Amino acid sequence: MAKRGSFGSRFGTVAAVGGSVIGLGNIWRFPYVAGENGGAAFILIYLATSFLISIPIMLSEFSIGRSTRRNPMRAFNKLAPGSKWKLVGYMGILTAFVILSFYCVIAGWAFEFLKESVFNQFNGRSADQIRDSFNGFVASGWKPVIWTFLFTVASAGIVLSGVEKGIERYTKILMPMLFVLLLGMAVNSLTLDGAQAGIEFLLKPDFSKITGTTVLQALGQSFFSMSLGMGAMITYGSYLRKNENMPRVGAMVAFSDITVAILSGLAIFPAVFSFGISPTSGPELVFLTLPNVFAQMTGGYIISVVFFFLLFVAAITSSISLLEVIVLYMTEELRLSRKRAIFYTASAITVTGSLCALSMMPGSKLSVAGMNLFDLCDQLSSNVLMPLGGLLIVLFTGWVFSPVKFRNEFTSNLQYGVKIFPLIRFLIKFVIPVVIAILFLNRIGLL
Ligand code: PFF
Repeated sequence: MAKRGSFGSRFGTVAAVGGSVIGLGNIWRFPYVAGENGGAAFILIYLATSFLISIPIMLSEFSIGRSTRRNPMRAFNKLAPGSKWKLVGYMGILTAFVILSFYCVIAGWAFEFLKESVFNQFNGRSADQIRDSFNGFVASGWKPVIWTFLFTVASAGIVLSGVEKGIERYTKILMPMLFVLLLGMAVNSLTLDGAQAGIEFLLKPDFSKITGTTVLQALGQSFFSMSLGMGAMITYGSYLRKNENMPRVGAMVAFSDITVAILSGLAIFPAVFSFGISPTSGPELVFLTLPNVFAQMTGGYIISVVFFFLLFVAAITSSISLLEVIVLYMTEELRLSRKRAIFYTASAITVTGSLCALSMMPGSKLSVAGMNLFDLCDQLSSNVLMPLGGLLIVLFTGWVFSPVKFRNEFTSNLQYGVKIFPLIRFLIKFVIPVVIAILFLNRIGLL
């Protein structure tokens, strides 16, 4: 990504931001978190939080980025010189690091499954055999570590050789392909024997299951999925063209993000029930379910190869945006060469990623307060660091950022922007901070 360059076209902008936003969060994380939190009711809350909370935060981040054209830490320092707000930028770097540590592990699983698909290893296996082979893979320890390492190297290689031309060019084709493939898989899943229970799980909300934790999980999922609360969207905002219609870009990206998540749910849950897999299987859910679908689907061999390849593409376009947040800081602020910054970051991620992978082995001692390191990084980023970052960003936008500057960013090239601006600002100033604060207080037992 060219420093202080800007995106060339509307489509290029949506593709680049979409590349960061659409990733493992939609296809791997959304189904498993929805499964653990009761399905339909969770999804309704997820939709509400996405529209009412996440989109305004995305627009806040874009505005901060575009009005300063700096990395997140500098951006805060420029808008509120000498204040502590720049700490929000540092927190974003920490969050990127925590996310990458487990993200590379799951992307590594996608690599392993791509290999298994290519060698046609799902064919003819029963659901139990698929589960045993997956458990054997995770328990081996060294296999996930090797894939984690390879994925980190691949991401680092792309960031090193320049993101803009290659990645943008390919994602414009590959992401729509992923979309069409998921649509096909969803249609196929809906026709499976016993799909009905899965459809009900997705569509019939059981509100009695909703607690403060569920709402925080939905909010965390939405933040994770839209890459919010950690400066990635401030960085991308700094590349937005001055005359770009920002709310429209935000709406298009959010809409694509939500649609891909819902399609994944539709592809997975009917199959979960059809093959007798528990919806609360956790991070393994998608990897236990999909091979069964592929094994019995017409054209399953080729579809599985294409799917895991596209999952890998979706993962890598997100992981490079995470790496970019750290690398941009190191090059702009610590004056390291890009090569060095990438080398240090990738080395550190290989170590923490391997520890996360090893912590998933049965009997592993790599855990804190009863949670293995992998789950800890996953939960800490989505349910603590990103909502906290989001809270600080809206407080900044609502109470510190000059309203005139914010309004100018928001309404550039958008006539009706003038009309919706007061509503968005009201949400940002009062509603969103109060909602996030209540959720936090509830979670830590103070409310
Ligand atoms: N939004 C990505 C996903 O759904 O997989 C994950 C992510 C990417 C989070 C980039 C944060 C970020 F800065």
